[in-house]
Amino acid sequence: MQRKRIHMMMLAGGLLGGMLMAMPVMAADPAPAAPSAADAEKAAKEKALAEAKAAAPADGAMLANTCAGCHGTNGVSAGPSMPSIAGMPAKYLEHIMSEFQSGKRPSTIMGRIAKGYTEEETKRIAEYLSKAKWQPVKSGPNSLTATKVDEAKGKKGKKVIESSKCGKCHEDEGVTQDEDTPRVAGQWVDYLVIKMQDFKNEHLSVPQPEKMKKAIDKLSAEELESAAHFYAGQK
Ligand code: HEC
Ligand code: HEC
Repeated sequence: MQRKRIHMMMLAGGLLGGMLMAMPVMAADPAPAAPSAADAEKAAKEKALAEAKAAAPADGAMLANTCAGCHGTNGVSAGPSMPSIAGMPAKYLEHIMSEFQSGKRPSTIMGRIAKGYTEEETKRIAEYLSKAKWQPVKSGPNSLTATKVDEAKGKKGKKVIESSKCGKCHEDEGVTQDEDTPRVAGQWVDYLVIKMQDFKNEHLSVPQPEKMKKAIDKLSAEELESAAHFYAGQK
């Protein structure tokens, strides 16, 4: 009981900075909760909650600043192994983040990052990013470091995509997106190649629709690479 109370106060302490640290009762008092301390704790929590609510509508942009370090300003990626996430549907971003958070979706770094946000914060970040403007990455500032779209490979990729019926879900040459399906047109070649290798690697068990899994499993590494060149070359 006492331990739990201290634990909760430490949590609140984290939220409120130094405020609660100044309260002397906390660790020393072995007696059951002194009413004054409990009242102060409750009041402090209510205050923190009210402040958080007041700050809520504005800070999607601020929260999304953290993402910019890797995914580029407003989600337009500047590096080939980092996906652009600008303008993706809010529901898609939210669901991916919650899967990273729960560990359902394997990741190198996103699991740890996603765990740093509450559901409400994730929602705000997703809403903010969904309003950012998508830009095809190959025209991005650092595109020299990336694999360039190869038109010959892209032509082969178009055939692969047609015969595999990828367009059933990735409509309009990969431009269309919805709450389950990300945009693939204009994404980095390198990222698309990595993703397709991940889809094929059963040990990673990346969430993916059964129909796509079947289609991708049938394709060779070379065919998948050409599909990546095709999609990356679309605007
Ligand atoms: C330290 C770098 C880093 C930061 C910061 C970061 N990401 Fe990521 N993100 C990655 C990497 C790397 C991947 C690929 C998955 C992995 O390996 O974790 C990724 C993948 C994603 C994906 C999947 C995209 C797709 O199409 O498959 C989404 C969505 C995403 N991140 C959203 C975010 C959001 C929202 C934030 C900010 C709250 C954020 N990321 C911050 C590195 C980062
Ligand atoms: C049944 C619908 C469907 C079909 C068919 C399909 N896809 Fe997908 N695709 C999806 C969905 C849904 C996702 C998102 C999966 C996830 O990460 O949750 C996706 C994700 C992807 C991604 C990763 C994009 C990213 O940013 O994470 C690539 C690349 C991709 N598909 C390529 C293909 C190719 C190539 C084919 C054909 C061989 C194909 N897809 C067929 C539905 C489909």
